[in-house]
Amino acid sequence: MKTVLILGANSDVAKEAMALYLEMGHRVIAASRSVDDLRAFVVQRRLPAERVVVEYFDAVAFETHRAFYEKLVGKPHIVLYAAGFQVTNEEALVDWEGSYRMMNVLYAGGVSILNLIAMDSANAHLERIVGLSSLSGVRGRKSNFIYGSTKAAFTTYLAGLRQYLFPRGVAVNAIVAGYIRSKLTAGLDLPESLLMEPAFIARHVVGAGRKFVIVPGFKWKIIYQILRMLPESLVAKLP
Ligand SMILES: NC(=O)c1ccc[n+]([C@@H]2O[C@H](COP(=O)([O-])OP(=O)(O)OC[C@H]3O[C@@H](n4cnc5c(N)ncnc54)[C@H](OP(=O)(O)O)[C@@H]3O)[C@@H](O)[C@H]2O)c1
Repeated sequence: MKTVLILGANSDVAKEAMALYLEMGHRVIAASRSVDDLRAFVVQRRLPAERVVVEYFDAVAFETHRAFYEKLVGKPHIVLYAAGFQVTNEEALVDWEGSYRMMNVLYAGGVSILNLIAMDSANAHLERIVGLSSLSGVRGRKSNFIYGSTKAAFTTYLAGLRQYLFPRGVAVNAIVAGYIRSKLTAGLDLPESLLMEPAFIARHVVGAGRKFVIVPGFKWKIIYQILRMLPESLVAKLP
């Protein structure tokens, strides 16, 4: 039986991924600040509780990460980093707390815990690390470049980590997602036709293969390719 460690497990996408990993017969360590919510989710969805361990994990409590990892009973085969936090770009520009928290939750927290996991060469069965990144990180745009820059940094980190872990046979994937209907986007005015469900994204997480960047949804695949190629003068005209 494989062990899956989900960091930031109370994310709407992470919870759907947890349900799918359990369906596949894996054991899940669900790590989150919201341990009660997660336990309630396991009951409400009638998930096999005997294969779920809920652990407290705070992505920004960097100093606790080593002890958190060392105490884990059963080191992971698969790791998913899903912690997320967002304030609007307008807020982030005037509120350093919000900016800094985004950097810490979305990037620094991931690097802190994933470095520990990646450097544990004693964990011979580590086979995959998946990070939830975003199309917002593909190009700097005036409407969301603070959130976007943390995602760009996270994707770049994962790309390097993939190369670094290649000799050990560990796959690393970045899920480069567009808009997802979740707690993070609740209250935002996003085009319905571009919104994806957490369960749809979760299927891409659990089905990840050797490809590094995974862009769920055909519309978002097209947007991703256009964004990547667009000259800066045209990106500057986007919101
Ligand atoms: N929603 C989108 O449109 C979208 C698009 C592309 C990428 N993403 C990325 O996908 C990931 C998952 O987001 P989501 O859409 O599933 O949103 P979500 O449901 O709001 O999940 C984000 C989760 O991160 C957790 N979190 C926040 N700070 C944390 C911390 N310090 N330590 C541990 N966990 C922490 C929150 O936990 P609590 O419940 O305990 O507060 C929350 O459950 C994020 O990285 C997000 O940036 C989202």
